[in-house]
Amino acid sequence: MTKLWGGRFTKSAEEWVDAFGASIPFDQKLVEEDIQGSLAHVKMLTKCEILSEEEGEKIQQGLHTLLKKAKNNELEYSVQNEDIHLNLEKLLIDEIGSVGGKLHTGRSRNDQVATDIHLYLRNHTKEIMELIKQFQKAILGQAEEHVETLIPGYTHLQRAQPVSFAHHLMAYFWMLERDYSRLEDGLKRINVSPLGAGALAGTTFPIDREFSAEILEFDGIYENSLDAVSDRDFIIEFLGTGSTIMMHLSRLAEEFILWSTQEFQFIELDDTFATGSSIMPQKKNPDMAELIRGKTGRVYGSLFSLLTTLKGLPLAYNKDMQEDKEGVFDAVTTLTGSLKIFTGMVETMTVNKEKMINATHSDFSNATELADYLAEKGMPFREAHEVVGKLVLQCIQQNKYLLDLSFDEYKDASTLFEEDIYNVLQPKTVVERRNSAGGTGFEQVKKAIESGKEKVNQK
Ligand code: ARG
Repeated sequence: MTKLWGGRFTKSAEEWVDAFGASIPFDQKLVEEDIQGSLAHVKMLTKCEILSEEEGEKIQQGLHTLLKKAKNNELEYSVQNEDIHLNLEKLLIDEIGSVGGKLHTGRSRNDQVATDIHLYLRNHTKEIMELIKQFQKAILGQAEEHVETLIPGYTHLQRAQPVSFAHHLMAYFWMLERDYSRLEDGLKRINVSPLGAGALAGTTFPIDREFSAEILEFDGIYENSLDAVSDRDFIIEFLGTGSTIMMHLSRLAEEFILWSTQEFQFIELDDTFATGSSIMPQKKNPDMAELIRGKTGRVYGSLFSLLTTLKGLPLAYNKDMQEDKEGVFDAVTTLTGSLKIFTGMVETMTVNKEKMINATHSDFSNATELADYLAEKGMPFREAHEVVGKLVLQCIQQNKYLLDLSFDEYKDASTLFEEDIYNVLQPKTVVERRNSAGGTGFEQVKKAIESGKEKVNQK
């Protein structure tokens, strides 16, 4: 088979070598973006009178036919034609004859492929932003139900202080809020047109890059043709944000896995998001949460793979850059899938309020409250810490919790104690009183949910 670039070659390539070099097995994913880019390019060529109206019209019609076929999965690609760009050009020529060969005037595959990825990432960044919004809504939904549901708060995975379950969930809301804004910010760098940069140096044709950029709804054009074709920073940024999103999801996944153990029993995942065991009939495994935790590594891997690919690459285009695609495609699949699954898991989970609240009654997570109590009455906090530490030890020795100590025992420890400690030590009071800005006090949590809702409604 003759190559579209076969002119200077005396020997045809061997199939197995073609197969190694080809990107068509994976870059066919870019078919719609590639056609979209070509349509803008041909409109620009016509407007600039580089192609006649008639030629432009024919090419556009041909491209629309290809687009329709692509949507119906009717295009046949070949490895000999290497990538999506050459495959489509060949198919266009087959469709409309040699005039199809004029499409590539004033353009190179180098600015073409860059344009495709910019378009691809613009679409998918927006898709992921929308999925984050849906996920945030699911979190808000559960948070509203559970402002007064108490859960032990942990540090070092040891019970620390009780918190509102809504407050715990809302922590993830704010992580996702930052992720959303990272994606939004990344769009500024994604939404720039490399089209018309040519292979690396621009072109002699009187093209109008602003015009094609406008058709493609880019906000502007790259200022430097070498940079335009060799920049992959915007993909790195996307993968960086994608890695951060996955890191956040994997932390929540880990909590869900823990919370649904026999040991915790704080939540139960809906059957849809759990699986059984082929041997142990009693099992209900949190596979989806585990998979999300597991898949996080793929996105980190793609980020590092691309950083490594680009390290030390001289300007401008190098074939190494063909390696940018599979990682980013995979990251998009992983991110969209994980966000959708997590939204469903959060919406449908059962929260075992009783278990959570009981847990906050069977620990020493109200000890700080007791120390604060003494400090409020004038005892230096350090001394109060010591007094309460001793009381905790006394409880441990007697197999009790702080609320089980008698008032005499309290009086023996410090004369500052009064009867109101039994109320002060109630986990609910403990949580309610942490009313500092951003704290777990119910008032604060309600405020945070309102402000979260506003954020989501602005999106
Ligand atoms: N398939 C190539 C890629 O994905 C397209 C650009 C090829 N350009 C070239 N001069 N070989 O990067």
